[in-house]
Amino acid sequence: MYEEYWGLKEKPFENTPDPKFLYLSKQHEEGLSRLLYVVKERKGAGILTGVFGCGKTVLAQALLKELSENIYRIALINNPHLKAIELLRAIGRQLGAEDLPQRITEMSADFFLELIEGILLNNTKDGKETLLIIDEAHIIKDEEVLEELRLLLNFQSEKRFLLTLLLLGQPELSKRIQKNKQLVQRIAMGFHLTPLNKKETKNYIIHRLNVAQRPKPVFSEDGLNSIYENSGGIPRRINQICDIGLLTGFSKKVERIDKKIIQESVDSLGI
Ligand SMILES: Nc1ncnc2c1ncn2[C@@H]1O[C@H](COP(=O)(O)OP(=O)(O)OP(=O)(O)O)[C@@H](O)[C@H]1O
Ligand SMILES: [Mg+2]
Repeated sequence: MYEEYWGLKEKPFENTPDPKFLYLSKQHEEGLSRLLYVVKERKGAGILTGVFGCGKTVLAQALLKELSENIYRIALINNPHLKAIELLRAIGRQLGAEDLPQRITEMSADFFLELIEGILLNNTKDGKETLLIIDEAHIIKDEEVLEELRLLLNFQSEKRFLLTLLLLGQPELSKRIQKNKQLVQRIAMGFHLTPLNKKETKNYIIHRLNVAQRPKPVFSEDGLNSIYENSGGIPRRINQICDIGLLTGFSKKVERIDKKIIQESVDSLGI
């Protein structure tokens, strides 16, 4: 709607985890390189935590982009609000198992564990790596689920893990997994993402505008400061405010979006 007015090729502040718009702040860069380390060096398991909207899912997408499809077999579970057995079935299915039983009564955890072990061994034999990413892992409340994940990590050859497990979630995830000490002991990397600082928030906004091909400034300095104050440096909120700011600025036909427009936009969002 407002793209033409602002000379944009596309909307710069969509709340989607599109790695094309990835802004590598220092900590996003470090988070991504740690994820890559765990996967490429086959370290077993890693955990990435951070408050909502700070970029965990985006980093997972950026990681996937770095991994060659020829080598990596990947299962990505986005909603682990599942019983242990359903989770194992979902993992098996994503790793390519066919003709799986549909009814829970027809299933046993051992059946799926054996099946997944077979897939992992085959992948290894074929020179493939297997990666399991569980996003939103903080919503796992069932201890049995954590236990099954630990059992998956037990699949090892003499020299190496057959599977890399990445757990992504909000900060309470760290506390939640403490209950399973054996799982915690297998976690080789942990990283915590925090909101962007003021300078990074400004750079983030400029970066996304550049990707959408608007090289000239859109927001005034006090507008940028106000976005930072109102978003707390959380990218998802920054996106919301900037998007509605662009819309408000367009309806008012202003040349620059200043603090007043941002405040008005924030008030309209009710955040
Ligand atoms: N480093 C980044 N570069 C570009 N965009 C980002 C970055 N971090 C976050 N975003 C933007 O913010 C939005 C929210 O980020 P994301 O979904 O990755 O957060 P999250 O930490 O997974 O949140 P939740 O805990 O709610 O799942 C993304 O859709 C994306 O548009
Ligand atoms: Mg997420």
